Amino acid sequence: MLNLMRKKTLKIHSFFGRIKKMKEKKIFQNCIGLLADIYAKEDNIEGKNTANFLLGADCSSINFTENHNSKSYSKIFNSYSSKEEHPLVQEVRKISHLLPWYQSDCEGRLDEELKKQMIMTELVGPNSIIYSSQYELGIYFQFPNVSYYSRRHPAEETFFTLSGKSFWKIEEKKEVESFVGDYIHHPSMASHSNRTSDEHLIACWRWSGDISLEGYKNFK
Ligand SMILES: [Fe+2]
Repeated sequence: MLNLMRKKTLKIHSFFGRIKKMKEKKIFQNCIGLLADIYAKEDNIEGKNTANFLLGADCSSINFTENHNSKSYSKIFNSYSSKEEHPLVQEVRKISHLLPWYQSDCEGRLDEELKKQMIMTELVGPNSIIYSSQYELGIYFQFPNVSYYSRRHPAEETFFTLSGKSFWKIEEKKEVESFVGDYIHHPSMASHSNRTSDEHLIACWRWSGDISLEGYKNFK
């Protein structure tokens, strides 16, 4: 009798576990759909190619690859918000504890202090939740009052602001302020820097073309 009850309880747990996983996958799919929508509207052929890749991505067999930072970094991510936010932020918050967040020094190219001021998670890429050797994209967080010095890299890049605001400078052009809904595009090897002031920045970034880090250079 006890064994039968134990078996029934296990079955119920596994049933609810499966429902939970299905819901999480559905939220992830919503995130990919919203990203596709963002890049389809970008005035750039690489944005549109990225959108097409996302629309064709198979999310049915994805597995979340949580790491030891997932819970603590997602707490930080969820503690920052702004009055106006893109719907993608709300979706990401629902599964942020499952995502592989990290802080990167771009394989030794950035100093330790700057590394601590940014948190990111990659959703598409060579080592990511959705595999791609051509595209890399994810969610990026930068703390308030942080200057990310000038750098350039072979990959073509676009940042799309989802929450907060930031300031961007490309080559010798005048610095521009970026708000929710704005695209900041960097052609391959264009020098760019950015900073936050009193607010944080949450953005999605995408890379295409040569997405390796070999040609990444910064100018402190
Ligand atoms: Fe960049």
